[in-house]
Amino acid sequence: MQEYQISLTAIMSAYLRAYHSRHDNPKIFDDFLAHRIIPEERQALIEQGLANSLKLSDPERAAVCPDQATALAWVLRAMTGPPNILSRSRYTEDSLEEAIRQGVEQYVILGAGLDTFAFRRPDLVKQLRVYELDHPATQTFKRHRLAELKWKITPNLNYVPIDFTQGNLTAALTQSSYAPQAKSFFSWLGVTMYLTRDEVYTTLRAIANIAPAGSTVIFDYLDTDAYDPGKAASRVQGMLKLAQHAGEPMKTGFEPSTLAADIARLGLRIQDNLSPADIEERYFQGRVDGYYACEHVHFARAVIK
Ligand SMILES: C[S@@+](CC[C@H](N)C(=O)[O-])C[C@H]1O[C@@H](n2cnc3c(N)ncnc32)[C@H](O)[C@@H]1O
Repeated sequence: MQEYQISLTAIMSAYLRAYHSRHDNPKIFDDFLAHRIIPEERQALIEQGLANSLKLSDPERAAVCPDQATALAWVLRAMTGPPNILSRSRYTEDSLEEAIRQGVEQYVILGAGLDTFAFRRPDLVKQLRVYELDHPATQTFKRHRLAELKWKITPNLNYVPIDFTQGNLTAALTQSSYAPQAKSFFSWLGVTMYLTRDEVYTTLRAIANIAPAGSTVIFDYLDTDAYDPGKAASRVQGMLKLAQHAGEPMKTGFEPSTLAADIARLGLRIQDNLSPADIEERYFQGRVDGYYACEHVHFARAVIK
């Protein structure tokens, strides 16, 4: 990421959660605050841009769309974003609820973007200390927006700036009120693909070192086929192009069959390594609206040994 650039993919992720919450049923993940956290003028620009993109991607369909809302719905059905973003958040927050029942005290949201958990789930937040870590430019943007909205930042909610390319997770958390002895839950959604393999491993190793045994980390990742034009699904190739265009190129994938061994060396034991087929079965079966699990996207859940 560029030093001063607000993450456009973070804004888009929040927009896609907002759209789903307001337009789709049944819900995969209901982020009913997402539409408030994105400034209205940005939402209008995103909707206009997406709807207009149908003229390029499917001119015949665009010609018969009576209005912007219909064009927008068509475009969203063809994108990887909605299924990917909704199912990873659902998987994470379901796992977090279970972890809280088992005594987790801290929730660390890595690359939080415009995540609204801290305001959407007061029932869970009151049982936790929450740490949102993100790139300074995006975090500053979010904090300005929270101030505009006058959403109350409770004392147990902490904002910690970080740049994962600098390998400084331990330093960042050590300088905050994060308690290294408290059982913790880390989520890292929509971030690993933007980093190098070494940066991902460095961060995972730091998590294993700074959290006690039994703590959990969840992250999503692209498999290596996603980067091979001969093997990648066309909508995933489209996603890579969009990310590049947004100035946030995706660059790293992992091999699902060796992930467990790779991260065991960092001090983590894999508990779940969900494939697109697993994700489809859990969250998309029976849907009639055209959403289906994103090819090449996997969800990993690991515990600290
Ligand atoms: C696709 S967004 C995902 C945001 C959020 N996790 C979600 O699911 O909506 C990627 C996030 O990773 C953050 N990010 C990307 N590269 C980063 C880096 N080098 N250091 C810190 N944060 C980074 C961005 O600021 C952004 O918030």
